[in-house]
Amino acid sequence: MREFNVTTTVKEYNYQELSNADAILVEEARKATFRSYVPYSHFHVGAAIALDNGQIVCGSNQENAAFSSGTCAERSACFYAGAKYPDAAFIKIAVAARDGNGEFLDTPVSPCGHCRQALMEYEGRAGHDVPLLLVGRDKVYEVPSVKSLLPLTFTEF
Ligand code: THU
Repeated sequence: MREFNVTTTVKEYNYQELSNADAILVEEARKATFRSYVPYSHFHVGAAIALDNGQIVCGSNQENAAFSSGTCAERSACFYAGAKYPDAAFIKIAVAARDGNGEFLDTPVSPCGHCRQALMEYEGRAGHDVPLLLVGRDKVYEVPSVKSLLPLTFTEF
């Protein structure tokens, strides 16, 4: 028997500590929350993806009366990016959320399991780590890669 640990180091930033490029990406994710369609949950999520062609592609959660037919912000953003710029690699992803009162979440929001799996595919295609910026009201967490959020990932069959 052998035991091993799977660990992730998360960096916590104040807004003033962000680089210019990261501050722009975070702002795009925050703005994308205002384009969500959330008549059922009233939970507004926005995602912004920086691509190696210099573009930023955004998505937001889009809900549906048949709940499972809707999709999260992260998947709306990554599928949109893949469809619009199929040859561009992902550089970084930012995710932000506002609650039912329209307030940005105090604790940074984190992608759901489905979105982690979906984003993994694009990290694999990029061929390098794709860090995530998880946006809270006063703090931003930086996670070093998608795979660090999804240890022992299913990637091949
Ligand atoms: N949601 C996202 O957009 N991203 C996540 O990572 C978690 C959840 C959405 C789905 C649904 O529209 C609402 O938030 C409540 O779950």
